[in-house]
Amino acid sequence: MVAVAVLGYGTVGSGVVKVIETNHDSILKKTGVDLQVKYVLDLREFPGDPVQEKLVHDYDVIINDPEVRIVVETMGGLNPAYPFTKRTLEAGKCACTSNKELVAKYGTELLATAREHQVSYLFEASCGGGIPIIRPLRTSLGADVIDEITGIVNGTTNYILTKMSEEGLEFDDVLRDAQQKGYAERNPEADVEGHDACRKIAILSSLAYGKRVDFTDIYTEGITKITSAEVCYAQKLGMAIRLLAYSHMDVENDGRVTAMVAPFLVAKTDPLYFVNGVFNAIFVHGNMLGDAMFYGQGAGKDATASAVVADVIEEAQTLGRSVMSEWSPEKQTMQPVAETEKQFFVRVSGNADDCGEVKNVFGAVSIVQADLDGEYGFITPVMTEAAYQECAAKLEGQILGMIRIRG
Ligand code: HSE
Repeated sequence: MVAVAVLGYGTVGSGVVKVIETNHDSILKKTGVDLQVKYVLDLREFPGDPVQEKLVHDYDVIINDPEVRIVVETMGGLNPAYPFTKRTLEAGKCACTSNKELVAKYGTELLATAREHQVSYLFEASCGGGIPIIRPLRTSLGADVIDEITGIVNGTTNYILTKMSEEGLEFDDVLRDAQQKGYAERNPEADVEGHDACRKIAILSSLAYGKRVDFTDIYTEGITKITSAEVCYAQKLGMAIRLLAYSHMDVENDGRVTAMVAPFLVAKTDPLYFVNGVFNAIFVHGNMLGDAMFYGQGAGKDATASAVVADVIEEAQTLGRSVMSEWSPEKQTMQPVAETEKQFFVRVSGNADDCGEVKNVFGAVSIVQADLDGEYGFITPVMTEAAYQECAAKLEGQILGMIRIRG
């Protein structure tokens, strides 16, 4: 029997207890691991819930019990998740988590602590919820040099963008509806401003490229400026708007990494076009593999808990050694976003018949009309972000919106 403690009995924590208890026999049969939840730490009481028998309010009970070999951190946030995880690893116990905020900020340090103490720190559920992506990067794709990861890694924003497109609604209305249905948090900032996706692509990029990608170095733009007008133009172009978390390593040249989170126009020929609602998908390119895409439930109690318990199983099977993916603490050199090239879709006020100034400034643009009063759109030639900003400044006051186009 392997005794497990769960820190936090919220959505994911209660899901972890449910998965371990519901699937106990199946896990035992398939993997030979007999998992038992011994403690659940939470400040609250849960009268009437069988978890009450395992409930503790003092973390020291867990850390001082030598029978507990694995601690699942599903508290979220940094405090006390960070000190509790650090102490767990220092006590020679394995830890696993779905907490991307913690992994993005303290992952490098916690991985080193785990290695030092011959235990593992796993976080499959921190990116893509229930979709296996971190373990495949470490195992199945271990033979490849990965040079691109592009993901729809935030279910809330993908739900909002899908609804805006399907129902022609404005951002605020869909956000309210998503909050009522429980698809968006009451404080949606981390999701709609792209911070959640930013942390996820920082973790995936650190793993894929082997050096620490600092999330604060990643250019991040959310979806709050997307309106029904942008959606109209996207439909006219036969494209979809998706919040992409993108990173690319220039393996051939200097190994610099470009990373960004922003809304992009995605063509119908791109598999990411078909990722709708709360689903997530992560596209990976490897030098031998070519393209692969991982698709599925990117959030939600049971799916996320399933990924956490997969980590618990691996840790139980490998007690006494570190099996986790790691990256070097050395900071990854990033290519400034200003140097990166792409095409831009731009909305401007005025009439397409008078697009002379736009052409003078941007060169050979293609005009896009969506029958919206007093405005039209155009697609720029491929240009750097810096060149785009320079040109856009010349049309100051006329530009109503801009979305990048996925190449
Ligand atoms: N808020 C996140 C999302 C939850 O919407 O994808 C899963 O990380």
